[in-house]
Amino acid sequence: MPRKTSHSPLSVLFITPEIHPLIKTGGLGDVSSSLPSALRQLGVDVRVLIPGYPQVMSGLKNKRRLVDLGPLAHFPPAALLSARLQVGDSGEIPVIILDCPGLYQREGGPYMDPSGHEWPDNALRFGLLSRVGAILSSDASPLKWRPQVVHCNDWQSGLTPAYLNTHRGKRSATLMEIHNLAFQGVFPPGSVAQLGLPADSFNINGLEYYGQMSFLKAGLYYSDHIVSVSPTYAREIQTSELGFGLQGLLSGRRNQISGIVNGIDTLEWDPSSDPHLNRHYSLSKINNKSANKRSLQQSLGLTVDPDILLFGMVSRIAHQKGSDLLLQVAPHLTRIPAQLVILGSGEPALESQLMQLAKNYPGKISVSIGFDESLSHLIEAGSDCFLMPSRFEPCGLNQLYSQRYGTPPLVHATGGLIDTVVDCIPSTLSDGTASGFLFQSMNPNNFLAGIRRVSTLYRDKPAWRRLQKNCMSKDLSWRVSAESYLEIYRSLASGLPVSQTVA
Ligand code: ADP
Ligand code: GLC
Repeated sequence: MPRKTSHSPLSVLFITPEIHPLIKTGGLGDVSSSLPSALRQLGVDVRVLIPGYPQVMSGLKNKRRLVDLGPLAHFPPAALLSARLQVGDSGEIPVIILDCPGLYQREGGPYMDPSGHEWPDNALRFGLLSRVGAILSSDASPLKWRPQVVHCNDWQSGLTPAYLNTHRGKRSATLMEIHNLAFQGVFPPGSVAQLGLPADSFNINGLEYYGQMSFLKAGLYYSDHIVSVSPTYAREIQTSELGFGLQGLLSGRRNQISGIVNGIDTLEWDPSSDPHLNRHYSLSKINNKSANKRSLQQSLGLTVDPDILLFGMVSRIAHQKGSDLLLQVAPHLTRIPAQLVILGSGEPALESQLMQLAKNYPGKISVSIGFDESLSHLIEAGSDCFLMPSRFEPCGLNQLYSQRYGTPPLVHATGGLIDTVVDCIPSTLSDGTASGFLFQSMNPNNFLAGIRRVSTLYRDKPAWRRLQKNCMSKDLSWRVSAESYLEIYRSLASGLPVSQTVA
C-alpha cells in the first residue's frame, strides 16, 4: 500500500508497452516496474496500463475483469482486466491489462514477430493502447478511478495526448517521457483516419512528420510536459545531431522539458543476494567477486585466468550501441592482453560479424546471441570492466548495474553516460567520486585509448580496489529521481508550471 503523506495521494496512470519481469526488450521494461514501485513507496497511487500480450496474461495471476470497452471505432473488441505485479521484495504494482486478443494474443515480441519483422498492425496495436490511455484519463472513463496525471512512455503511448486534445470534457494532465528519440512510431498518413484522429491534426503543428504521421511527435506536441531520462540527453535532443528531425519542436518547448536520470531496482540488482550468482559478494567481501569471473570464463569457454583483464558487454546489437566500433577494436583488445564477453541480439549483419569474431579468437572472445537475463547478471558480476561505446545513450542502465557490481564501466561520453559515470583521474580517484572511464569521441583510436587506460589502472591493484569501492558505494536507487517525478506530477496536477527539474 502507498505510504500516507501529508499531501493527498496523487493518482497517476503509467502507460507502457513493456514491463520487467513479464516482457522486456530493453531498459524501458526495467524502468516500467522499478519507477512505479519507487513512486508507490512515496505514496503515489500509480497504476500501470499494458497490453495483454500472452506473457502478461499468463504471468499475472488473480486477474479480475474490470469492464468491456464499448465498440471503439476502428479497433477490435477489447476489455480491461486488473491484476497486481509483484516487484522483487519491494511490493506490488496495480496493473490494468488491455485485453484485446485480436491485437495482442500472438507469439512473438511486443513489436516484432518471431522472425524479427515488425508487426504490420503496430499502428493499431499501439493506437489502441494510446486511445484507451486517453479514455481512462478523462471523464469518459468507465472506471471510477481517475488519474490526475497520465505518464506516457515512448512512441507507443504518444497518441494519448493527441486523443485527449480532442476531448471536450475533463481530462488529466499529460506527461510525455522520451526514453529514446530514435524510435518514433512513424506510419503512413492514412493511419490518421484509421486511428480515428481528426484530419486537421495531420499538420506540422500536430502529428505530421516529413509527410508521415509520428506517434512520438504527437506526444511531444500535445503533452503538457516532457521528461527525458537524463539532463544531458534532454539538451542533446534539442540539437540537429541528436534531435532526429524533432529538434525544432523540442527546442521550442525547452522550458517544458526536464531531464531526470533513471534509478535502478537495488534489490533485484544486488551482488550480495542476486539469485543468478553462485557466489555472492559485497563491499566488505569483494574478494568473492573473482569466483564469478571464474564461472563466467568456465561457462563460456574462455581461458580460465584470474589475472587477465575481462571486459563484458550486454546490449542490443545496434548502431546506437556502437557494436560496429567494438568490432573494429576487439582484435586490438585481445593483445592488451584482455578477454571479452558479449551478450546481445539485434541487427543480423552485426550479429554474424560478432559471431565470426568469436570464432577468430577462441578462448579470448565469447559472443552469445540471444536475450538471457541470468547471463546478463553473471556478466555484470564476473567482468572486470563493462563496455558501453554507445553512439548516443539517453540514460543507460547497464553502466549503473555494473557500478553496483563493482565492475567499473568504460563509456563513450554521451547522454546519460556523462551524467552517471565520473571519469577516473587522480583527483576523482582520491576524492572518492571516480566511478569509471569516459572516452570523448566516437572513433576506434579513442575507444582503444580508453581500454588502455583501464588496463593501466587494473594493474595497480590498490587503485583498482579504490575505484571498485567508489562504484559500489554510490546511491543508484530511485530515491532522488522518484522525488523529482513526484514534484512534476504535483505541479501538473495543480495546473502550475513545472519548475525545470534536473536530477
Ligand atoms: P536500452 O534500453 O537502450 O537497450 P539500457 O541500458 O537502458 O539500454 O537497458 C538495457 C536493458 O536490457 C538492461 O537491463 C540490460 O541488461 C538488458 N539487456 C539488453 N540486452 C540483453 C540481452 N541480450 N540479454 C539480457 N538482457 C539484456
Ligand atoms: C532507452 C534508452 C536507454 C534508457 C532506457 C530506459 O531504451 O536507449 O538509454 O536507459 O530507454 O529509460
